[in-house]
Amino acid sequence: MTLTYRAAVLHTPKTPLKIETVTAAELRHDDVLVRIKAAGLCHTDLEVIEGGLRYPMPIVLGHEAAGIVEEVGPEAQGVSVGDHVILSWNPHCGHCFYCDRDLPILCETYLTEGPKAVSFDGRHHARLGDGRDLKQLMFLGAFGEYAIVKAEQAIVVPKELPFDRGCLIGCGVMTGVGAALNIARIAHGDTVMVIGCGAVGLSAVQGARLAGAGTIVAVDLDDKKLALAEAFGATVRVNAGRDDAVAAAQRHGASGRGADVVLEAAGSPAGFRLSVEAVRPGGEVIWLGKTDVETDVAFRWGALMAEKRIRRSSYGGARPARDFPLLARAYLDGRLKLDELISRRIALDDINDGFAALKRGETIRSVVMF
Ligand SMILES: NC(=O)c1ccc[n+]([C@@H]2O[C@H](COP(=O)([O-])OP(=O)(O)OC[C@H]3O[C@@H](n4cnc5c(N)ncnc54)[C@H](O)[C@@H]3O)[C@@H](O)[C@H]2O)c1
Ligand SMILES: [Zn+2]
Ligand SMILES: [Zn+2]
Repeated sequence: MTLTYRAAVLHTPKTPLKIETVTAAELRHDDVLVRIKAAGLCHTDLEVIEGGLRYPMPIVLGHEAAGIVEEVGPEAQGVSVGDHVILSWNPHCGHCFYCDRDLPILCETYLTEGPKAVSFDGRHHARLGDGRDLKQLMFLGAFGEYAIVKAEQAIVVPKELPFDRGCLIGCGVMTGVGAALNIARIAHGDTVMVIGCGAVGLSAVQGARLAGAGTIVAVDLDDKKLALAEAFGATVRVNAGRDDAVAAAQRHGASGRGADVVLEAAGSPAGFRLSVEAVRPGGEVIWLGKTDVETDVAFRWGALMAEKRIRRSSYGGARPARDFPLLARAYLDGRLKLDELISRRIALDDINDGFAALKRGETIRSVVMF
């Protein structure tokens, strides 16, 4: 039977997404058909719309989603019809150079197929009404009523977890919490600075709290975001538009030396520069944000010296099959906040307004409810 469904399609950068009826491909191999119940609007989707991140078009964006398994392909394992799942955007082959070195985020098939915006086995999973193949962002394309993913990408989570909260775990929360727990080496009592308090940064604040940081300095340009950061566990707020964030790092770091660990989640050259100025000698900087890949970012050379470790990290070292259920459980047990990340629940038809609000900095996450 042919499945048609509604999806938000981007035809050209800098133009509104169009809601269209598209046709799903047939399930093969370990494909899984997921009925999407909720999908978050992440900054990365916005970067594709704005043209800073380049992908082939027409494309369905959306890579932070949760839903219900509706049908499974003949070789799909680990998921069954009716399971509630959070979707991962990092499928990996498990046996290439980087998979063997425990870096699924650099999996060679993932890196080869990802920029083509096709499925992991190189196919297209949907087509437009006029028959043209439709691309899907980050092996997902979740701004539609359905998505076909590889079984490995559909992580089963407890049914008590609401979909709108659950979807956030699929990107922003995993990235921020995971950066603090899986990537950074935060010691008990450390001073951690988090630059940028959107969904990723607020999650990094929570991750720092879960890792046992003693002082968490939140930096943003927006006082409302900083107030939220405090609710998520920040102990010091710094508005970088008014206050000297480097001085704040020195004041709150051990004996005036600067922060032990800095997590950058603003995605701006100013944030990257601040990160290396604010960290103490021998400390660690983790960059989560990104800017246009063709942009040069300049640093004061002296700020890079003194045995600082700098790492750019994607997806918080995610091992989705391990981490998504742990994060879901942490929410259900009251240790991880997700409710406060949702600024708006919107319909698919209102998705362009949702992105306009994200661009204006008015929302942490708008979540499309299906
Ligand atoms: N590494 C990954 O895997 C990954 C995953 C998702 C998103 N991201 C990136 O992480 C970044 C944050 O994503 P988000 O969805 O939270 O975005 P967002 O736009 O919701 O949040 C960014 C925050 O940074 C603040 N900010 C901007 N410039 C600043 C500055 N100079 N100093 C301090 N604060 C500043 C903004 O006010 C905002 O609160 C983006 O660059 C995004 O592309 C990375
Ligand atoms: Zn994202
Ligand atoms: Zn691989």
